[in-house]
Amino acid sequence: MEAIVIEKEQDKAVPRFKSIDELTLPKGDVLVKVNYSALNYSDATTMFNVWDTIDCYPHIPGIDFVGEVISSSSESFTKGERVLHTSYGVGYNRFGGLAQKAVSNDDWLIKVPDDVSDIQAMGLGTVGFTAMLAINELEANGLIQDDGKVLVTGATGGVGSLSIQLLSRLGYNVVASTGKLDSYAQYLKSIGASEVIDRIIFKEKTQEILEDENYAGFIDSVGGITLSRAIKQLQYEGIGITTGFVTGNDLDVSLAPFVQRGIKLIGINSVYTVKEKRESTWYRLFKLINFDILEKSIRVEPIEKVPELARNMLDGHSVGRIVVRI
Ligand SMILES: NC(=O)c1ccc[n+]([C@@H]2O[C@H](COP(=O)([O-])OP(=O)(O)OC[C@H]3O[C@@H](n4cnc5c(N)ncnc54)[C@H](OP(=O)(O)O)[C@@H]3O)[C@@H](O)[C@H]2O)c1
Repeated sequence: MEAIVIEKEQDKAVPRFKSIDELTLPKGDVLVKVNYSALNYSDATTMFNVWDTIDCYPHIPGIDFVGEVISSSSESFTKGERVLHTSYGVGYNRFGGLAQKAVSNDDWLIKVPDDVSDIQAMGLGTVGFTAMLAINELEANGLIQDDGKVLVTGATGGVGSLSIQLLSRLGYNVVASTGKLDSYAQYLKSIGASEVIDRIIFKEKTQEILEDENYAGFIDSVGGITLSRAIKQLQYEGIGITTGFVTGNDLDVSLAPFVQRGIKLIGINSVYTVKEKRESTWYRLFKLINFDILEKSIRVEPIEKVPELARNMLDGHSVGRIVVRI
């Protein structure tokens, strides 16, 4: 089969589009003919082994895929059924979806509703699922629309842009923070942001333990100083969600926001979400998303271009969702 295959060359990870023997696929309940995959930030980091996550070479990346069941040893899935996979280490420590075939397990797969296309399913992918989990947590912890503004950092990115779309569908007043203010403010408004601000505001460290109470909640995918500044700007009993750390995983914050303002900080890990919660989250996401708006942020690219696109993504030049045609 053809795939993006990462090989080690002179101590470096090198991704290429090439053939690989399908007998190398791992064991699992369900074999899937992949129609589309996606290119996520974490796929890009895996492709160049940025975080030293590859245990063994050759490796196939791709944390998201959608396609049709070829064969299944599970009673839950039958040949020809359309399924979607995210999570459980697929693409990290198991072969992933940037290939013509991929293996998944009963507990990990989601049946794709008939009215959702393969491209739409991959337009959502792990980042859509993560954004939905984040919003479910905000709500479960008491956030309501009247509480105030909700900040979304890394706004033009995958988690960021999906969070904006979903929060705005639910009627929240969303402030989008981006490094691409000049070129993407209009786009961010068109997908649901009510205000767009320059991420430079969150760039510098501050000695202040508390800042102005600007936000009732936030969804952050940037981490580092951005996250610590967002925490300091939460209002009394505000709720912050951390989903990723594009700029680093250190957190420079005192206990003042927690103790003096009673804020909460909640981490999301979409990878090991159990089946029941996984299904209810996905089906809420399918219902809530406005696919007409989502499609504005989707770009479909052929699998051959993935290594080049991944490099671009790591250099911070990527916008919206890249869906990969297999
Ligand atoms: N916890 C989970 O389960 C989970 C799931 C999915 C992803 N993640 C993680 O979440 C993070 C984001 O993933 P993604 O797929 O959304 O990535 P992405 O599409 O590359 O978006 C990241 C965004 O961060 C902003 N950014 C980039 N460099 C920056 C810098 N130097 N300073 C400040 N902002 C910067 C950019 O937005 P602007 O230009 O608009 O500022 C960029 O679009 C990653 O760490 C990923 O691994 C976690």
